[in-house]
Amino acid sequence: MKQSSLFPKTRKEAPKDAESINHKLLVRAGFMDQLMAGSWTLLPMGWKVVTKINQIIREEMNAIGAQEMLMPLLHPKEIWNETGRWDKANDIMYKLSDPRQKEYALSFTHEEIVMDLLRKNITSYKDLPVSVYHFSTKFRNELRAKSGILRGREFMMKDLYSAHTTEENLMEYYEKVKDAYSKIFRRLGFNFKVTKASGGVFTDKFTHEFQVLSDAGEDTIYWRDGDPEAINEEVLKGDKKDYKSSKAIEVGNIFPLGTWYAERMRAYFTDEDGKKKPIWFGSYGIGPTRVMGTWVEVSHDNKGIIWNKEISPFQVHLIGLSGKGEDIYEKLKNAGIDVLFDDRDVPAGQKFNDADLIGIPVRLVVSDKTGDLSAQAGEIEYKERTSDKTELLDFEEVIKKIK
Ligand SMILES: Nc1ncnc2c1ncn2[C@@H]1O[C@H](COP(=O)(O)OP(=O)(O)O)[C@@H](O)[C@H]1O
Ligand SMILES: [Mg+2]
Repeated sequence: MKQSSLFPKTRKEAPKDAESINHKLLVRAGFMDQLMAGSWTLLPMGWKVVTKINQIIREEMNAIGAQEMLMPLLHPKEIWNETGRWDKANDIMYKLSDPRQKEYALSFTHEEIVMDLLRKNITSYKDLPVSVYHFSTKFRNELRAKSGILRGREFMMKDLYSAHTTEENLMEYYEKVKDAYSKIFRRLGFNFKVTKASGGVFTDKFTHEFQVLSDAGEDTIYWRDGDPEAINEEVLKGDKKDYKSSKAIEVGNIFPLGTWYAERMRAYFTDEDGKKKPIWFGSYGIGPTRVMGTWVEVSHDNKGIIWNKEISPFQVHLIGLSGKGEDIYEKLKNAGIDVLFDDRDVPAGQKFNDADLIGIPVRLVVSDKTGDLSAQAGEIEYKERTSDKTELLDFEEVIKKIK
């Protein structure tokens, strides 16, 4: 991709109303744009990052046998009345009506929709277990939408739902999902803790949150060294002074929901003895757009964002000075490298500042001084975003380092 045609351009100033780091940096660097409070466009580079996050999540979901699909966002009022959540979730649910006064909800979650699918399609214990997921938009009327893309009124979620014949089978799968989530957040490169949290109104069990340690977080979590799980302040009993603690950002949450939904929505299966029983159910969510914002909160410096190679929008930022670089750009593309090539006619200082702001892990510079492809070895300046050290390398050495 040539930077001269990349949409949009970077900005010198953060928006005046921006309070959080992810808001300031992701807008300045051209990853996202705010339409109104809590409502964001993912611009081309932001969408590339979220697509990479989604792919990591997708791989780990498929690895535990979950099947991807896509559910609608416009829901009839009737289905939400079956569980009583049309009224109970009144504060966060966006409701609307059409010209004939038929009422709808914009999806804030999908338990009821999956339960409807199950009762239409599951009859016997032989049809279970089932696990399905999708990536889609969620709408929630969040009162405080001030933390940039960490808290949207419209945001992306990967939500997985699983259905089982017994509590034991549900909890076995729940542990598998917990492991899969840990793998996802490890692959993404986060310093996080699996954290016991409240189960809401639907279960006497704990739920588990995946909490990234960060001062920008709204939650406070506690742990002791050696404990496998941390504890959210909301469920901590006993003396806090025995624990370490940190602010943290919740990036994922998993819920063992039992038979609460199946009982209310009449989703039954017939067991081996011919008895009708309610389906055991769990739901599991990760917010990829919040994940992007969280990465920026924990990985930046005073110059800009610092991506890792897993989710960086490009593998390499190639800066051409004095009209150089076109040939290296072509060679990198031919080698299968996803490269952003700064071919613009602007001062070198501006190019370097933009490279630091955008935060791609590897920066290459080709100029009069570094020579061009026809010159001998050592013609490309190589620098990593996390280091001040530069080296002169030839093309093959650069490729080796990147791959
Ligand atoms: N308003 C939001 N904006 C962005 N992401 C969100 C938002 N609310 C929830 N998420 C993401 O979806 C995941 C599952 O959400 P959930 O636990 O149902 O919401 P909550 O914790 O607000 O009750 C969260 O861990 C987070 O990653
Ligand atoms: Mg939660």
